Amino acid sequence: MRILVAGGAGFIGSHFTERLLAAHEDVVVLDKLTYAGNEANVPAGAQFARGDAALIEDVEAVGTVDAIVNFAAETHVDRSILGATEFVRTDVLGALVLVQHAHRQGIRLVHVSTDEVYGDLTAPAREDAPLRPSSPYSASKAGGDLQVLAAVRTFGVDACVTRGSNTYGARQYPEKLIPLFVTNALDGEPLPLYGDGRQVRDWLHVEDHCTAIELVLREGAPGGVYNVGADDERENREVAARILKLTGADPALLRHVDDRLGHDRRYALDSSKLHALGWRPQHRFETGLADTVAWYRDNRAWWGPLKSGEYRAYYEQQYAERFNTSRPA
Ligand code: TYD
Repeated sequence: MRILVAGGAGFIGSHFTERLLAAHEDVVVLDKLTYAGNEANVPAGAQFARGDAALIEDVEAVGTVDAIVNFAAETHVDRSILGATEFVRTDVLGALVLVQHAHRQGIRLVHVSTDEVYGDLTAPAREDAPLRPSSPYSASKAGGDLQVLAAVRTFGVDACVTRGSNTYGARQYPEKLIPLFVTNALDGEPLPLYGDGRQVRDWLHVEDHCTAIELVLREGAPGGVYNVGADDERENREVAARILKLTGADPALLRHVDDRLGHDRRYALDSSKLHALGWRPQHRFETGLADTVAWYRDNRAWWGPLKSGEYRAYYEQQYAERFNTSRPA
């Protein structure tokens, strides 16, 4: 097959591209190369087209493909709180453009979404749980999911939606909890733990996330929505403590800072639909996190240059005041 991977120069998309190449598929990556995309992430062997998934002319310029997998998204909650326009553009309009293209071409689309569309949870959500997004980011992702599912119902498009939990691993942009804390710890900089640090996330290794998406691409039921959770829930303060230990950094670097607005306490998924297709996560958090810390320790050349320019400006805006009023953890 020739497969279009939208957002293939980003974190999960580049790992997924590697998987498809290993399975001897032809891959064309379409990526806008925003701050979080990096052409160096595109694995050798994939074709690369710079372009915007929300512009039909850029999608058409890629040529004929047999399927589309959509990773193209603005993904960071804290940035969406500072401004959501780009989130709506890429996460909603991009999803609409790609599902319309899949419809016209008569090909399958797998739309990669997130557990955050369900909002705060007290019990693991099934796929038919109500969508109650809390942040401008998750509201945009929910909008994209709904465009895709409406096209399934209205036009009979062959599309599936995956909703993965918090994903970690190599090559994640250092704004997210794990790569931010790991790189700060390696640099002896403080680690900003929001609120009481007792929020819970279900940590999914990027390779497990990619095996799930590949399975849905090949075997998902048309119109199917699939949760992808690792059943590996951890409080943020545990994640931080593990990172301090694995990096050998001074525990005093950990600081309690003002909480994120609208912060969801817990995400948790019921992934039994995907389990019925035969998927199981292969990585546990303890070893997956140790491998990830080792990758960041060995690949400063990848992340060091990212922590300047645009990143610095964002970091100051997001954290400067928080550190001024921070408390020891
Ligand atoms: P994040 O990696 O931004 O993912 P998401 O918000 O999509 O779950 O954050 C994961 C958790 O870590 C979340 O509860 C917020 C918390 N967090 C901090 O405590 N400090 C930080 O600097 C960041 C970025 C996140």
